[in-house]
Amino acid sequence: MAQHVDFDFTSEAFFRDPQAGVAQLRAVGPAVFTRFPIIGRVWITTTYEAAARVLKDSATFTLRKEGGALVGLPWWMPRVIGTVANNMLTMDEPDHTRLRDIVDEAFRRRAVLDMEPHIRAIADHLAEELFAAGSPADLVQRYARMLPLAVICELLGLPPADRPKFIAWANSLAHLTNAFSFLRLIGGLFKMRRYLQERLQVAREEGGEGLIAELVRVEKEGGRITPDEMVAMMFLLLNAGSETTTHLISGSVFELLKDPARREWLAADWSRTGLAVEEFLRFVSPVQFSKPRYVRHDVDLEGVKLKKGDRVMTMLVAANLDPQANEHPERLDLERRPNRHLSFGTGIHFCLGHQLARIEASCALQALFTRWPGLKLAVEPSQIHWRRRPGIRMIAALPAVAGD
Ligand code: HEM
Repeated sequence: MAQHVDFDFTSEAFFRDPQAGVAQLRAVGPAVFTRFPIIGRVWITTTYEAAARVLKDSATFTLRKEGGALVGLPWWMPRVIGTVANNMLTMDEPDHTRLRDIVDEAFRRRAVLDMEPHIRAIADHLAEELFAAGSPADLVQRYARMLPLAVICELLGLPPADRPKFIAWANSLAHLTNAFSFLRLIGGLFKMRRYLQERLQVAREEGGEGLIAELVRVEKEGGRITPDEMVAMMFLLLNAGSETTTHLISGSVFELLKDPARREWLAADWSRTGLAVEEFLRFVSPVQFSKPRYVRHDVDLEGVKLKKGDRVMTMLVAANLDPQANEHPERLDLERRPNRHLSFGTGIHFCLGHQLARIEASCALQALFTRWPGLKLAVEPSQIHWRRRPGIRMIAALPAVAGD
């Protein structure tokens, strides 16, 4: 049995600045054996190369065990969340491609670029309304959360009136810190599943717009997707599509609020945003870890011996801060090029929404700082806190005032 390394992945210090923790773990080796909240005992990669190897070798490192069971959840959890977990991100080939192909088209570069003017208009509107309920305004709840949610709801074809429900569910998920807190969230999860089942039924009977209608069309053709998989797909797109981008936007806005010179540099030429967003993706690392993988056979991972049946998670934030991948990774350099990061993962599960997330973040930054050039934090940066949700780097609140 490998030597076990203790590490607190939910400490405020690790969320505030993961660099020291990452360096400490990397000093042990390219993969360390540790205990991760909810998941339990697991290998964690600490370098870019080790993470890329695991994510790209999807035959050796799989999302399911031999019998098809999910990896890395307490035995009772799949029974509770049941069908909601049967999405492409928890599937190996060939089921993964079968499901991903159904929605792939909608997330292609061309399709996403077509959406850009609309995304920009939503961002402008949200920026305009920022202080409508008073000042200071919480940029996380009033801005960073609202844009990705609006976009994914429209893409799916969910009514705008239902968005407050998703916000409540998303906020409750932020309190998922361990297996016990999960039990408290089950009620919300069931409500969400029922809601999605109802929306699918409406689309079957009345038709409609967006990806829900597309799923129904594919279902009618027969053989490619089951009703449970349709719900799981919507559940995944809703969560993956809104949560992560929210934290990317909040994290980027926080960095720019801390450093007016950077903000002015960006505002002087907004065509720099694409490059800047790439660096924010690396530096903010909203998704700190990939999903856990199951080791199919004994394997040497960059000199570390993993055994068949072990579990391994790639530490994306460590890959992003690896000096072997980028020079001076500890520096936020908005002009960094090339920029080698794994914030969207890699391999067959490479993020489906990467183009969308990039465009949303670019539009969000431009709209916010164009409308409010003097925007300021209403508190000291040291008073900003992170939620202690394992694996996700999410700022709890960003109170801001309009400034001069
Ligand atoms: C997969 C990150 C935005 C949909 C992934 C993975 C990562 C990731 C790391 C791979 C996880 C793994 O291999 O274990 C992010 C980040 C985002 C973001 C950092 C924003 C900053 C989005 C958006 C969508 C989306 C906007 C749109 C709906 C998905 C889906 C998968 C995925 C469906 C699973 C793909 C598959 O299994 O083939 N994302 N994501 N993500 N992401 Fe994203």
